[in-house]
Amino acid sequence: MTEATLKAGVIGWPIDHSLSPHLHGFWLEHYKIDGEYLPFAVETENLKSFLKSLADQGRRGTNVTLPHKETTLSVVDQIDEQAKRVGAVNTVVVQKDGSLLGSNTDGFGFLENMHDQNPKWAAKRGPAIVLGAGGAARAILVALLEAGAPEIRLLNRTKERAEELAGELGGGIKVDDWAARSEVVSEAATLVNTTSLGMKGQPPLEIDLSRLPESATVTDIVYTPLETGLLKNAKKRGNPVVDGLGMLLHQARPGFQAWFGVEPEVTKDLRDHVLKVMES
Ligand code: ATR
Repeated sequence: MTEATLKAGVIGWPIDHSLSPHLHGFWLEHYKIDGEYLPFAVETENLKSFLKSLADQGRRGTNVTLPHKETTLSVVDQIDEQAKRVGAVNTVVVQKDGSLLGSNTDGFGFLENMHDQNPKWAAKRGPAIVLGAGGAARAILVALLEAGAPEIRLLNRTKERAEELAGELGGGIKVDDWAARSEVVSEAATLVNTTSLGMKGQPPLEIDLSRLPESATVTDIVYTPLETGLLKNAKKRGNPVVDGLGMLLHQARPGFQAWFGVEPEVTKDLRDHVLKVMES
């Protein structure tokens, strides 16, 4: 490392299991960049001072993960339109004047991953069914609205949470009962699971796909396992499927470009590298 080494990182609490250092590390090596990307365990009470000291630490910015994505919004000096609409920041870039710009690239990651894994997919093609109303759902809903999904149906176990979210995002989202999920899929051009169901150690997502049109693209934000029960069943029926690991990889691109000056690519080698880390 030299004075010229470009530095960034990721902050969260806990941070041990973050895959971000591995994927940024892969890109730094691949593009032969004199750079450093480290994980930092930062407690909420230290979040503000950590972010405000980024420039003094010689860092060009940082990714932000749980539980700091919402709090960071009020710490940075400026936020981009996406972060404002989603209500959360996942990428902070130190500007030339030392001020902090917060952005949210999760929706970008979602859309890029969909296009990457299914080039025929377009949000505009038809209604999207979104399961879950947590933080991940917010970013995906904003992305689908902006990409022109003609109709969005939102279903969540706790219906009030879905109604609140649909209200906040201002029209274009219709809320249905969680119990109706197997019926509602008959309308879908896109089906997205944003709940934690189907994740290793969590209960499975119980949904009957028999009414789902065969052309509908099915995606899951869960990527442990990479092929969730939902994706497995959808694939068996002949539906195009998009796994959730790509969203993580694509959301990292804008930050890497801002900090290290190269527009990185999501390749099979990168996916294999990250999958190997996940297995170890
Ligand atoms: P995040 O912010 O990362 O999306 P979250 O806020 O914990 O995480 O949201 C998890 C999502 O999974 C929520 O939509 C949650 O539904 P509730 O809002 O009703 O809690 C959903 N979820 C978790 N466990 C579930 C279960 N057993 N059945 C149905 N939905 C579940």
